[in-house]
Amino acid sequence: MTSKTVTLTDNATGKVIELPVHEGSHGPDCIDIRSLYKELGYFTYDPGFMSTASCSSAVTFIDGSEGTLLYRGYPIEQLAAQSTYLEVCYLLLNGDLPSSDELHDFSRIIKEHSMMHEAVRGFYDGFRHDAHPMAIMVGVVGALSAFYHDATDVHNPEHRKISAHRLISKMPTIAAWSYKYANGQPFMYPQNRLSYTGNFLAMMFGVPTSTYEPDPTFVRALDLILILHADHEQNASTSTVRLSGSSEANPFAAISAGIASLWGPLHGGANEKVVMMLEDIVHSGKTVEEFVARAKDKDDPFRLMGFGHRVYKNYDPRAKIIREMTHKLLAEMGGGEHDPLFEVALKLEKIALEDEYFVERKLYPNVDFYSGIILRAMGIPLNMFTVIFALARTVGWISHWNEMMQDPESRIGRPRQLYTGSKTRDYIAIEDR
Ligand code: CMC
Repeated sequence: MTSKTVTLTDNATGKVIELPVHEGSHGPDCIDIRSLYKELGYFTYDPGFMSTASCSSAVTFIDGSEGTLLYRGYPIEQLAAQSTYLEVCYLLLNGDLPSSDELHDFSRIIKEHSMMHEAVRGFYDGFRHDAHPMAIMVGVVGALSAFYHDATDVHNPEHRKISAHRLISKMPTIAAWSYKYANGQPFMYPQNRLSYTGNFLAMMFGVPTSTYEPDPTFVRALDLILILHADHEQNASTSTVRLSGSSEANPFAAISAGIASLWGPLHGGANEKVVMMLEDIVHSGKTVEEFVARAKDKDDPFRLMGFGHRVYKNYDPRAKIIREMTHKLLAEMGGGEHDPLFEVALKLEKIALEDEYFVERKLYPNVDFYSGIILRAMGIPLNMFTVIFALARTVGWISHWNEMMQDPESRIGRPRQLYTGSKTRDYIAIEDR
């Protein structure tokens, strides 16, 4: 809190009020409008939260014009180059990097919780064979709220910690099983001998009839993808988790709500849509330029998937890292960089970065533009892309939920509205209508 204020004059009544201004450690200051309605009788109007900070948070910082992303103050570039996903999980949850003992203990705890109650298996059978794995994720993660009754007090920090560990730990199992179910293959159980990421790959691609050893290059690539997706401050899914959790709902149910929000193509679902769009371009016989023209046409709802971002008006720093990794991985795989899909992606990127429409609107490729390409190159099926995003983001969601539950300023989320419906009118009996 600073002594800075903003003075607001209501031109209709002449009433003047002073609103306090809060200064963060980075980023724009925030005008505290909590007394506005009481003092002047107005609400603020901000659909899509274009200028609204819904909370204060110490987890993640983004500077959209600079293209900066910090987890607990650490630049994403440094974490991507030097850290591991589990270490990043510890950092996001606890606020600081762990000592080696702390990391060792944390990894052990996460491994210990990776199995699920056997009854959870039964939930999968309720889904159609062709259910989208994200639909299964929403259902099964929500269903976890019917288990684990030993840690349901959301005001108890120890209970919250156990729920956080369970979620991070079980998410790879839930995700891999959603894939196995759709493929009619037996579910694979977690193996504690493997790393967090290696274990996920083993549960996805392994079968009981043979031993599966995850490829170290893929393990590192996937680990990096998980790091890059681990948190992104108050995006749609995180805000959904916060809003649903603000009523003191069960954390598994709140995370399930976050998964539902993430699924949309404007958010995490974009990684799947990017590859679908690239495939469409390759197979349509049309040129990349024709697709770019469609994206610019206001009468055509088509958008270039993987381009644009509410906050980044510069290159998404995650996209830069994945872009480089995509080049490396495809080259290592031998000839991968000549994949027609990748070639179309590069062409699209080049055209869009030079086109006035995209330049003017500061529409850069976002993380989803490249993550789909790299996941595809690793043999991950298309419908699992957003599931992997959900797996990675779980730690971000739960860190924000935990922060909110500890914040003395947090209250049940209850936005107001600008009502535009009918004025009060009298009921008319049906025979008189
Ligand atoms: N293709 C063509 N035009 C676009 C695109 C695009 N991908 N994105 C934005 N625009 C245009 C939009 O039509 C508008 O133009 P105008 O000012 O003439 O009306 C302008 O750019 C601003 O767009 P907006 O929709 O008002 O911006 P927003 O902040 O509400 O939406 C967005 C951000 C990410 C939803 C949007 O850019 C989009 O739909 N992108 C494609 C989907 C996508 O890649 N999503 C992944 C986001 S990153 C990862 C994540 O969040 O999970």
